[in-house]
Amino acid sequence: MVRDWVRWHEDYDNPDSSLSRRLDVVREHLRGALAGGARSLLSICAGDGRDVLPLLASQPGGRSVRALLIELDAELSGRARQAAAELDLPLAEVRTADAGATATYAGGAVTDAGVTATSARVEPVDVLLACGVFGNIPDADMRRTVAALPALTNPGATVIWTRGRGDGGTDPSAEVRARFRAEGFTEVAFVAPHDARFRVGVARRSGGGPADLPTVPRLFSFD
Ligand SMILES: C[S@@+](CC[C@H](N)C(=O)[O-])C[C@H]1O[C@@H](n2cnc3c(N)ncnc32)[C@H](O)[C@@H]1O
Repeated sequence: MVRDWVRWHEDYDNPDSSLSRRLDVVREHLRGALAGGARSLLSICAGDGRDVLPLLASQPGGRSVRALLIELDAELSGRARQAAAELDLPLAEVRTADAGATATYAGGAVTDAGVTATSARVEPVDVLLACGVFGNIPDADMRRTVAALPALTNPGATVIWTRGRGDGGTDPSAEVRARFRAEGFTEVAFVAPHDARFRVGVARRSGGGPADLPTVPRLFSFD
C-alpha cells in the first residue's frame, strides 16, 4: 500500500488528534535529550520535521546541534527545508533520500530514479529519531534497523521511537522494546497512554564503541 504521507501529516492540524498527542510526547523527550547536551541529531523518515526543527530553534543549545533529517518525499522534505530556513537553522540539513538504503548512510544517495549520487557520510549522532517508521515496515526490517542503530549513534546516545498499538490482542511495541534491549540499549522511557493507540519509546545506548553498518543493501522498506 502506497500512502499519501503529505495527507497523513494533516492529522497534526487537529491539536486533539492522537498524532498531535504523540508529537507532544516526542518533543518532551527530545527536549530532555537536548537539555542533556546533545550535539548531533539524525531523524530517519523525518516527514516535515515538525518534531525536531522548532525545538532546535527554541531550546538552549539547540541551534548548535548539527541535525540531519532524511525524508524520501520531496514535498515533505521541501517543507522541512523551508522550515529550517525560516527558523534560521543553518546546521540543520534536510536530505531528500531513502533512509532505508544502507548506501544513504555510507555516503551515497538513492533517489526515486534509482540514481546513486555521492553525498556526505552520515556520522554517528547523540540523538536519533525513528518516529512513524516501525509500524510501516515488516518486523524483520524493524529488527535489522534497530540492529543498525549502534552504527548510527554514539555511546550514550538517545533514540526516540514510536509504534502504533495495532488492532490485534498483542502490542507490537513489545517486540521493538525487546530488540532495543538485545542491541545494547537501555530503556529510559516508554509512554503508552491507555486511551491512545501510539507508543513512544526512549532508549539509551548503554556503551560500546564505534560499530559498523550491516553489510546489506537495505535496512527497511515501507509496506
Ligand atoms: C508515518 S510518517 C512519519 C513522519 C515523521 N517522522 C513524523 O513522525 O511526523 C513516515 C514518513 O516516512 C517517509 N518515508 C517512507 N519511506 C521512506 C524511506 N525509505 N526513506 C525516507 N523516508 C521515508 C514518508 O514519506 C513519511 O513522511
